[in-house]
Amino acid sequence: MDINSIKAQIDSEIGNINSPETLEELRVKYLGRKGLIAQLTGSIPDMPQGERAAFGQEVNALKNKITFLIDEKHKGITGKPTKSPLSSVDIGLPGISQELGHLHPITQVTNEICAIFSQMGFAIVEGPEVETEYNNFTGLNIPLEHPSRDVFDTFYIKSHVTGHRSQVKTCNVQRATCNRLVLRSHTSPVQIRVMKSRKPPLAVVVPGRVYRPDAVDASHSFMFHQIEGFVVDENIKFSDLKGALEVFAKSVFGKKIKMRFRPHFFPFTEPSAEVDISCIICQGKGCSVCGQKGWLEILGSGMIHPNVFKNVGYDSKKYTGFAFGMGVERIAMLKYGIDDIRLFFENDLRFLKQF
Ligand code: PHE
Repeated sequence: MDINSIKAQIDSEIGNINSPETLEELRVKYLGRKGLIAQLTGSIPDMPQGERAAFGQEVNALKNKITFLIDEKHKGITGKPTKSPLSSVDIGLPGISQELGHLHPITQVTNEICAIFSQMGFAIVEGPEVETEYNNFTGLNIPLEHPSRDVFDTFYIKSHVTGHRSQVKTCNVQRATCNRLVLRSHTSPVQIRVMKSRKPPLAVVVPGRVYRPDAVDASHSFMFHQIEGFVVDENIKFSDLKGALEVFAKSVFGKKIKMRFRPHFFPFTEPSAEVDISCIICQGKGCSVCGQKGWLEILGSGMIHPNVFKNVGYDSKKYTGFAFGMGVERIAMLKYGIDDIRLFFENDLRFLKQF
């Protein structure tokens, strides 16, 4: 059928239509997938190249005309415009929102602290959570009889022994070295790993999980996070440690914070100090958070012990260095005023959504 006879036909047919159902039949006959218009369009590829464009335009015009006629007729019969598929969608309905997740507060605080040290030129390095007794203790100048090696303070991996003493299952104090595996009880063993594999100058921060067999309560967890930091070069002084930690504390807790260094003892640093900041709750006046002291302990630090340098093969006459280690949960609890460490590990969305 050609274009003109279709035009004539629709004009006469549409006059006889008087119900939506017959109008729909007419629509299918002309505009349906196998309708007359589709047949015309389908014949285009068989036409001579030169005639195709003009014919296509004519078919399109016809299609528009038929659509118009049907729409008008529909209005005439029902008093309403043809229903477009969209009109059945209630665009006033609220959408289904996609909830965006976010990083855990401990990850956020870890990233924030690492970024501060990164800006000071520290590299970020990670180490394994399953460690050798050597890296966790011996290399760090922690003597065999030290209480931190006790099974009440360190998780030992059962019957797992490294090195040539593969038969030895327990460690005996008389023996010079122990080769069991542990869940690292601090991030300091990464000092040994890094120093053994790289040469000074070094400035490194190490974020990661650590494990201690503590009974869980509001301030203890058998797993928590630490960030270790250390610098080794010629001429590194205690004042370098103070400077780096001051930048860190002021960036995390605000410019007004005061710091103090209290003498302390760690086997792997000498001298050693614990670092306090003025209480961020009472500004140093004394409150329940700081136990009326006005100060909050935030980390352990010191100058790297010459024995540690000897253990990794560094010349302890040539090089000096500082090291520090902090608990991320503790920093996060102080920063956000959280009073129970367990909240970090319960994954209660009402808690997590606040960060
Ligand atoms: N490793 C110590 C701890 O877990 C912290 C520390 C690190 C202290 C480095 C001094 C130097 O308590």
